[in-house]
Amino acid sequence: MNVLLNIDENSRVPLFRQIRDQLIHLVDTGSLRPGARLPSTRHLAERLSVNRSTVYRAYQELWSLGYLESRPGSYSTVRRRPKVAAATRGPAPGHIDWTKRASPASEALHAAHRREEALLQKASAPGVINFVPLSPDSRLFPMDAFRRCMNHVLRREGPDLLQYGAPLGYRPLRQFIAERMRLHGVSVTVDEIMITTGAQNAIERLLRLLAAPGAPLVCESPTYARAMDIFRLAGVQIVGVPMTEAGMDLDVLEQVIQRHGPALVYTIPNFHNPTGITTDQAHRERLLTICERHRLPLVEDGFEEEMKYFGKTVLPVKSMDHHGVVIYLGTFSKILFPGLRIGWIAADRRCIDRLASIQRTLILSGNLLDQAALHRFCRTGHYDLHVNRMHRIYRRRMQTAIKALRAAFTDGPVHWTEPAGGYTIWLRLHDVAAAEDEIVQRLLEHGVMALPGSFHFHGAADGTYFRLSIAHLDEAAITEGIRRLAAGIEDLYRRPDERNLS
Ligand SMILES: Cc1ncc(COP(=O)(O)O)c(C=O)c1O
Repeated sequence: MNVLLNIDENSRVPLFRQIRDQLIHLVDTGSLRPGARLPSTRHLAERLSVNRSTVYRAYQELWSLGYLESRPGSYSTVRRRPKVAAATRGPAPGHIDWTKRASPASEALHAAHRREEALLQKASAPGVINFVPLSPDSRLFPMDAFRRCMNHVLRREGPDLLQYGAPLGYRPLRQFIAERMRLHGVSVTVDEIMITTGAQNAIERLLRLLAAPGAPLVCESPTYARAMDIFRLAGVQIVGVPMTEAGMDLDVLEQVIQRHGPALVYTIPNFHNPTGITTDQAHRERLLTICERHRLPLVEDGFEEEMKYFGKTVLPVKSMDHHGVVIYLGTFSKILFPGLRIGWIAADRRCIDRLASIQRTLILSGNLLDQAALHRFCRTGHYDLHVNRMHRIYRRRMQTAIKALRAAFTDGPVHWTEPAGGYTIWLRLHDVAAAEDEIVQRLLEHGVMALPGSFHFHGAADGTYFRLSIAHLDEAAITEGIRRLAAGIEDLYRRPDERNLS
């Protein structure tokens, strides 16, 4: 049978692939039907003025892909193949009703994420100054240094890094983390550390270890929105304890523990997400004492531990943990870059041993190559240099933000937290009549966006809040963004009749 193929000798696509792909297209579109006979390799090569081995290679790939069949000494023919499902652009009418098949918890999560995605899409429109993302400015990361580390480990340890690793992670990196934690006053050994795929993965693993579906779990209210997503997906009962200006309300915590007997307490003592609050030494001691008294695991999320750039350092709760009740979570996401997906859990060895079994079951091993490159980056001094640079830059950025807020909202109904580090500022709008969606709309009209507070509450919020993250904005954008924010908010507080006039 004659087949019409076009060969482009100037194309960068190899000739054998041009032949292969065109034959596939002819079969897929029905121009070549099952049973159709293909020209011999010699014949086709002559017709196309290509080497016979080029045609042979194309045919060989088609055999192995199941497009052709051939018998010794005979022509190749098109093989009968089962009809392949076409990739569809939109939702096709399927036989499965996913809204009913998906678990109620994942369906609820899906609905919430759609609302969030719609908002994030608006926030990232061109021209909008976006205070939502909580990932550090990637322009600041020393890319070349990291690339050199990656190349170095590939050259030196290549074959070993291609294997499955130990479920606890790359041992030299765990060693580095243990040493780094000692700088923060926490005394842990390498065997008390498990590397995770970011702190997010760490939270999820801890839930698997400690909380059965339906079990109560205590966290601050408000708290990190995506931790609550994990809690909801795991089907645990979220019990929120209100935040005061000093941190979680510990009197309420005591009552809640008595009443609910929770599986664990989850807390973010530094630059709390979303409020930016850092608890003091006395608060940490009392929180620890409460958990010790109740023999209750205390999960300390130290996601921005390295981002203390103002004032006196307060040591992690884990640094005072003499009875092994604190499970500490760390991450490189907020100091290096979140795409790295490397975090860790530091806890009592018996807890880590159990987590290792869970980790081995669920992911077999983490990504050794990234862990080794990160270890090299840390050991060759780049990590320290970067931390110092981040402190210098973000100290200035945060000062710029606070200055702009003070200038914009003097003695008004808008209040905000002034954090000692990290990236987030929590804004409260008192006595505002507008609903959150309306405020979002007004801010967008002024070319600015911040994260609505309701994302951070389980149930109704106790007021109107917005979270400002300065993580990926430079000083000029922060100043202009806060100017726009103030204009949008001022607009909200103006009496409706005044608004109509303007
Ligand atoms: C409080 C808190 N914990 C954990 C995480 C998750 O961090 P990672 O990127 O390490 O998974 C975040 C991310 O924003 C966070 O805000």
